[in-house]
Amino acid sequence: MQSKIKISASILAANPVRLEDEIKKIEAANIDLIHIDVMDGHFVPNITMGPFIVKGIKQITKVPLDIHLMIEHPERYVKDFAKVSGKDDFITFHIETTKNPEEVISQIKAKGLKVGISLNPDTPTQSVENLLDLVDMVLVMSVNPGFDGQKFMPEVLPKIARLRSMAPDEVDIAVDGGINIENISQPVQYGANVIAAASAIFKTKDNDPVNAIKTLRQKAEQAIKKNRHKRLNV
Ligand code: DX5
Ligand code: ZN
Repeated sequence: MQSKIKISASILAANPVRLEDEIKKIEAANIDLIHIDVMDGHFVPNITMGPFIVKGIKQITKVPLDIHLMIEHPERYVKDFAKVSGKDDFITFHIETTKNPEEVISQIKAKGLKVGISLNPDTPTQSVENLLDLVDMVLVMSVNPGFDGQKFMPEVLPKIARLRSMAPDEVDIAVDGGINIENISQPVQYGANVIAAASAIFKTKDNDPVNAIKTLRQKAEQAIKKNRHKRLNV
């Protein structure tokens, strides 16, 4: 079963010196999640935000957060992120960054947060299969992580289908990277229900995040209705 569509707005492409205004805009569009890309300059070649940004964001919005850790040694930082987040927020870490994912999952759960596991485009689904009963979300990267504005990699679509068919119904299947109004129907047809997007929300020609979110949601919901899931083909 595919759950309700949730749009997760990545503030990586928002204007960093007007973050509060940007967040107010996406709230006006009933955004489901605010996606926060945490990068460490080791696991990915870019450095972005840490717990103090999360703390600031929590002070100005009640929208649940989708904290995407693209960092080595996630177990060292769960505590710091947990301190500034709450029970409806997700902490997602990458399977490539730890030898003991069960331990990181328990750590996040022990703090009362939701837990996501993410995998890079080249990482096979087998790497997370034994964890599907333990997590709330699986985040399939559809670009190599590091930057917004990259091109969607359609070769990850079969992985989405495979994970959707293997995971319990209540687990969200998310996709992140290069999603826009032209291609959003593809991951949805393959079974994704959480769609993370940065440029397609904050860097559009008409500079209208509200309209962008509305259109992304409409296209995703239409794709579910068409019921053309490709799951049986994988
Ligand atoms: C990539 C990040 C993504 C990124 C998406 O490393 O994890 O969340 O912000 O940006 P777009 O939607 O522009 O590809
Ligand atoms: Zn992300």
